[in-house]
Order: sequence, then C-alpha cells, then structure tokens
Amino acid sequence: MAGTRTRTVTKAVVTVAGLGTRFLPATKATPKEMLPVVDKPAIQYVVEEAVAAGLDDVLLVTGRNKNAIENHFDRNWELENALEAKGDHERLARVRESSVTADLHYTRQGDPRGLGHAVLCAARHVGQQPFVVLLGDDLIDPRDPLLETMLDVHARHGGSVVALMQVPRDQIHLYGCAAASPTDEADVVRIDDLVEKPDADRAPSDLAIIGRYLLAPGVFDVLRATDPGRGGEIQLTDALRTMARSGEHGPVHGVVFRGRRYDTGDRLDYLKTVVSLAVERDDLGPQFRGWLRTFVAELPA
Ligand code: G1P
Repeated sequence: MAGTRTRTVTKAVVTVAGLGTRFLPATKATPKEMLPVVDKPAIQYVVEEAVAAGLDDVLLVTGRNKNAIENHFDRNWELENALEAKGDHERLARVRESSVTADLHYTRQGDPRGLGHAVLCAARHVGQQPFVVLLGDDLIDPRDPLLETMLDVHARHGGSVVALMQVPRDQIHLYGCAAASPTDEADVVRIDDLVEKPDADRAPSDLAIIGRYLLAPGVFDVLRATDPGRGGEIQLTDALRTMARSGEHGPVHGVVFRGRRYDTGDRLDYLKTVVSLAVERDDLGPQFRGWLRTFVAELPA
C-alpha cells in the first residue's frame, strides 16, 4: 500500500518546546528529549520514525535550552576524527548514525502558548501541503508502524488523521479524548468531536489522542482563530474539534493504535521504555534479560 501511495505528505513537524519539569533536576540544563533511551536520545527515535515513513523534511519546533538537540543531529568532526584516528569504526558509525539523512530545520516557539501555538510556528515552513506532527515525548515502538497506516488512511480519505489509543478511564484526563463513529475499516474511526483533557465522568469515550497527527494545511487558519482553551493555552485538540465538526478542511479520521507507545516525558513510563527496548536489543538483550530474570525473581513482594 505504501509503495503505491502518491507522495503528497513529505513534511514532519516535531514539537520539543516543553520544559520537562517532571524530570528535574536532570532537565535543568539538558532538554528532556535528549535523555537516553538505552543509548540513543529519545528525540532520535522520533526523528527516525518520521524518516522511516518517508517524511524526510523535518522541522523541530524548539524552545530555550534546546541547543543540545541541534548539536546532536549535526556532524561532530572533532569526535569523528578522534574515533577515526583510533580506528574505532563501530563507535564512529554510531556517531554518524545520529546525523540522520533527513533535511532538518529548526524554529523557536518564543512564548510557550501551547501545542496549537507550537504547530502554528510551523505554518510558513509547511505551506499548503498536508503534514505530520509528532510530539517529541511520545515514542512509538519502531516495531509497530503507525505513521504508515495514518498516511494510507489519508491517501484514501484526505482531510486529517489523528492517532488514538484506548486508555483506562482514570487516565483519560491526561489526554485529548475523541467521540468517534466506526467506519467499515478495522481500527479506523470517523471523529465526531474532541475534548482536551476531560474529567473521567465527562469523557465521551476511552479513546485518547496520542502524539501523532496528520493535518490538512487548513489547520493553520483554524488555529489562528482558536481562543486559548484548557490551561489558558492554544490547544491543537480544539482546532481539530472545529475541523471535525465543520468538515470544512475535509474529514477527520482516527487510527486506533494497538501497538507499543511510551510516554518518555513520564518517569515511570520512561523506565519501562528503556527496559522494553533494551531486552529486545541484539547486542545488550541476551545479557540484560538474564540479569533481569534473576533481579525480578529476587525482588521482595
Ligand atoms: C498533548 C495534547 C493532548 C494529547 C497528548 C498526547 O498533551 O494536548 O491532546 O492527548 O499531548 O501525548 P500534553 O501531554 O502535551 O499535555
């Protein structure tokens, strides 16, 4: 399916402007997106996910204190030369891996006025094409492709597509929540309404928006006209709600994701991410699994 898709979507916008206060003091001088997940910073997984889905023009919407992200994706000649001189080709390859083969761009979100505002900062770069937004905190397991499915749904229906995941009711207040109707395709729903971070007793469903969106460019005009919402911030969820209700910029569909997603902005989830990805690694996995089995067996109840 992906091979036959007409390539109308080539740009990705990755939002990394958050302060990372849940990880203080680690994030006092280091962006939270640079925290390592095994041996790669979290943001590298996100950029690689975009590139793997064929989105090779990636704009990172950053904020203050995020210079380390730019440095990470740049070449580091000093380090490369030193490793070359030592003949350490394995580590050299790993350093070069991080200068991904995408066309990377950066823009700053001057005021932290919410996710909708961060997306609006990408308007000039994106232009009039549909584009993908990836939230830098959300890590989708590389073994469970999600963007490909969203791109396929977009190729068939146009409009916008959001990624959804069923979450326990007591978690829904942490997410944008969708009221949706089934379609004749498994795990593809039509979005009727959206609400940002509802209380559990008012949530229209248990379908949470996770951090992947494929947006019609009309979203920029809608965002410009969107008043601050929850938390006094301009919410992307509110703009999508307007679009779903009016249909003016095409339909809004949801893809219900049943794979593995990690919130690396949450400390407990971050630990789970590191363990989940480390046990599967060819190099570290066998030894780590062995140690983990013993460790778990000896854990006090
Ligand atoms: C943002 C969005 C929310 C979405 C969530 C996914 O919230 O506003 O709708 O469900 O990302 O991670 P945040 O987690 O930035 O507060």
